[in-house]
Amino acid sequence: MLTLDTATRRFSEKFAASAQLSKEGRDVIPGGYSRTSFNFGPHAVFVEGGEGSYIDTVDGHRLLDLNNNFTVNILGHGNAAISDALISAIPSGTSFGNPVEEEAALARIIIDRVASIDMVQFSCSASESVLSAIRVARAFTGRSLIAKFEGGYHGFTDPVSVSAHPHGGHEYGTDSDPLPVADSEGITAAVVDQVVILTQNDLVGTERILRERGADLACVIVELESGAGGHVVLHAEFVRMLRRVTAELGILLVVDETMTLRAAFHGMQTQYGIEADLTVMGKIIGGGLPLGAIGGRAEIMQVLADGRVPISGTHHGHRLALIAGIACMTALDEAAYDRLNAMAGRILEEVGEWTAARNSPFTIFGSGYSSLAYAYCVEPGMTVETQRDHWRNVDADKTQTFSLEMANRGFFPVARGEFSLSLTMTDEDITSFIEAVKGIVTDMES
Ligand SMILES: Cc1ncc(COP(=O)(O)O)c(C=O)c1O
Repeated sequence: MLTLDTATRRFSEKFAASAQLSKEGRDVIPGGYSRTSFNFGPHAVFVEGGEGSYIDTVDGHRLLDLNNNFTVNILGHGNAAISDALISAIPSGTSFGNPVEEEAALARIIIDRVASIDMVQFSCSASESVLSAIRVARAFTGRSLIAKFEGGYHGFTDPVSVSAHPHGGHEYGTDSDPLPVADSEGITAAVVDQVVILTQNDLVGTERILRERGADLACVIVELESGAGGHVVLHAEFVRMLRRVTAELGILLVVDETMTLRAAFHGMQTQYGIEADLTVMGKIIGGGLPLGAIGGRAEIMQVLADGRVPISGTHHGHRLALIAGIACMTALDEAAYDRLNAMAGRILEEVGEWTAARNSPFTIFGSGYSSLAYAYCVEPGMTVETQRDHWRNVDADKTQTFSLEMANRGFFPVARGEFSLSLTMTDEDITSFIEAVKGIVTDMES
């Protein structure tokens, strides 16, 4: 039977050069690299480059990239339109203390797609744009508290690094009255006290808390299908309640579409039939370069123009990121989304039928849009409706075994069990992935 020990040993052998670079990196970079999310079991996998759907590792292996820089690379690696646009722009300068016309061009592309967005402001990352959204919401409403969901990841900054990654040794409160807990040392109690925590898909509890705390709440920030803090798909009824109750109480609804903008041409909020007050974006909008944005209704975004909320970063709206973003978003027409979602639907259906037939606790889940996730549940048939279901229903060791073995067999997902597709993937790539899933599950259960 394939166990965590065996998978880890095979991984360490196969990715020995990466292990060595991780080790050497620790002398000069805490942990060996600047993103903890690079961790993959015992160490990160270092790449030399990529081509289409594949990455080439320093260990000499070519892996099907199901990580896609945590959903960024929707067009795969080395897309010609993005590369050509960048190569022709670079000789005329990369950094200016002046605006460039590409900024409004990319803003218009986004505004034309997402119905709730009248205006856009760019930054370098979704983490930064989350901070902007919170400051704008506080300025617009004159209130100070923010609400977010347990397991809701919105970047690494202080105000949202609260109950995003619940972990052992803390008191998190009850399911319907969750408590805010800092995800890291160095976050002050004053920051934590500004955050109200809600439970995903808890209709009654969430509405009650919003009504109790509403007078002080500037915004609720939510991902409609959460990814980084634990994959949970919100129910349509729950999202409609959130929209109705926040509107009634004058709380801004901030929909974080950093990942879910890859779900649908008009954004995932349109699929749910709601309009956000503010939308946070990142990942795909920069076409592989660092770009974040907030968008929203003109009357709200006005606080950024009239001097009430001045926001300015040296690299905000960086020319190259805008150019790459325009190339990427232009390539993403409705047919592109249909193709991605058809591939995801095929995986969900084929693996779902196969695991159900053998009564396996291995599950692939997600709406079939955006990103997908897999987990080894404790029992067959378990679902994940809240972050706490990840603690209760998911066997972390087996899920990690599965991730390591994916890499061992030529596939590179997100270590915690997320994966996403790119448009360069072929039907054969999807077939080989499905066959690898079946092979690993069979080896783990025999
Ligand atoms: C939903 C969501 N919001 C915000 C962020 C932060 O984005 P960035 O890492 O670009 O700052 C992420 C990153 O994974 C995310 O998934």
